[in-house]
Parts: sequence; structure tokens; C-alpha cells
Amino acid sequence: MHLKIEGLTKSFDGKEVLRGVDLEVPAGQLCVIVGASGTGKSVLLKHLVGLLKPDAGRILVDDKDIVPLSENQLMEVRRRFGMIFQSAGLLQSLTLGQNVGLVLEEIHGRPAEEVRRVVAEKLAMVGLEGREDQSPSTLSGGQRKRAAIARALTTDMDCLLYDEPTAGLDPIIASTVDEVIRDVNRRTGATTIVVTHDLASIFAVAEMVHMLHEGRCIFSGTPEEMRASTNERVREFLAREIALAGK
Ligand SMILES: Nc1ncnc2c1ncn2[C@@H]1O[C@H](COP(=O)(O)OP(=O)(O)O)[C@@H](O)[C@H]1O
Ligand SMILES: [Mg+2]
Repeated sequence: MHLKIEGLTKSFDGKEVLRGVDLEVPAGQLCVIVGASGTGKSVLLKHLVGLLKPDAGRILVDDKDIVPLSENQLMEVRRRFGMIFQSAGLLQSLTLGQNVGLVLEEIHGRPAEEVRRVVAEKLAMVGLEGREDQSPSTLSGGQRKRAAIARALTTDMDCLLYDEPTAGLDPIIASTVDEVIRDVNRRTGATTIVVTHDLASIFAVAEMVHMLHEGRCIFSGTPEEMRASTNERVREFLAREIALAGK
């Protein structure tokens, strides 16, 4: 899926959060969006799946603007996205396998045998093979994140959105989640957007990095270009994150 965002503008209660974001993600690319807390990264992701309507701007999904679409039409667009939001959102009353298979079974009404096969395949993809019967409460934070990724993979999607997938995880666990994100991108070819603060993640996974600041995209480049950037905001971001990582 090719994504292009043009002049995206959004205010809440008179407060401008997005002030004309321009950003493009070619099909299959894995890009990272960074920016200080409260700059509108999650708001941007919600626009991509039509959970929020912009005040102005266009969101082109394979060259088709989704902004004017009705709620029914947006449901079709949403099917093409897999979302891994901040909380993994696993239901404690179900097993891991039931959680991963939930969408296939309940929303798509697939036969039990197919659900079992797909769940086993997706769990293996995120390094949780054979754990169908485990309770989510027995999983570590990193395993829960990977389970949420497996669930997103059960439907045919061609874009994956991750909102701070490694937040709150220790660095070693975070790197295993990064590995899964990169591996899934390579194996599925799904266009992938990862919102993160985590410098280690940026350099581990990103093909391109976009930085949001005061409601605009003020930098787009490869991780190497980011490292070499003389943009003051980029330098500040890197310095702050390096200081935080050192603590
Ligand atoms: N549904 C909403 N109603 C009102 N304000 C919102 C809503 N969603 C987000 N905001 C505000 O928009 C700003 C950006 O939020 P968010 O996208 O969550 O930031 P972040 O970059 O940390 O993900 C914040 O000031 C937040 O309070
Ligand atoms: Mg957020």
C-alpha cells in the first residue's frame, strides 16, 4: 500500500495539533515517525484508518483520497490495515490462541480448522509457536506485544501501524520486538509505520525516519541522514534521547 499525506490539519477545541503534515510512504517501506510526546503522532495514525477526520488535507491510500469516504466505505479501507496500539489489548479470559484468532473467527467467521492453522502460523512468525493454550497473564510484556502483532497478521492487510511498540519494555526485550517488526515487514511486504521514541528502534528498523514537530513534518530521511542532520530540532531530539538512554 502506497500512502501519501498532504497538508493534514487537525485541531481539538481550537488547539491546532496537526498544522499541515506532508508525508509519503512507498509501498512496502518500513518507516518510523518520531517526535516529542503530545506532537500528534497517535492522532496522525488515527487519521490513516479513518478514526479521525481532518479539518483539511488529503490522505491518499493507493492514490485514492480516503478523507471524503463514508463510515461504510472506511470499513473497507480499515480492513487493509493492521493496528498494534499502545496497549496490547489481549483479553485475559481467553487463551493466547483464542486472542490471536478472535478477529478471524468472530468478524470473518472462518472455520475453526482454518483459524487454528492461521493462528499457529502467525504465532510462529512472532516467535511464540506452540503457545496457543497459554493464558495472556503468563506472558511477558514483550511477548504480549508480539502476540498483538500475530493477531494483526491474521487478516489480509497491506499496511501495519505500530504505536510505540517498545514503550515500557527493557532494551533487550525491546530489541526482540524490533526484530519481529522488521522480520514481519520483510516477509509480508506490508507497508509499515512505527511510531517510537526509542533511538535503538529507529536505527534497528527504519528505512526512513520522519520527525513531527509543532504539527508539521520537519525532517524526512534515512537513519544515517538523521544522524548527520544539522537541523536543530533533529539534533535536540537525538541529544535528548541519547541522554535518556544513558540513564
Ligand atoms: N480525541 C481528542 N480530543 C481532544 N484532544 C485530543 C484528542 N486526541 C488527541 N488530542 C490532543 O492532541 C495532542 C496530540 O496527541 P497525541 O497524538 O496523542 O500525541 P503523541 O505524539 O504523544 O502521540 C495532545 O495535546 C492531545 O491531548
Ligand atoms: Mg501517542
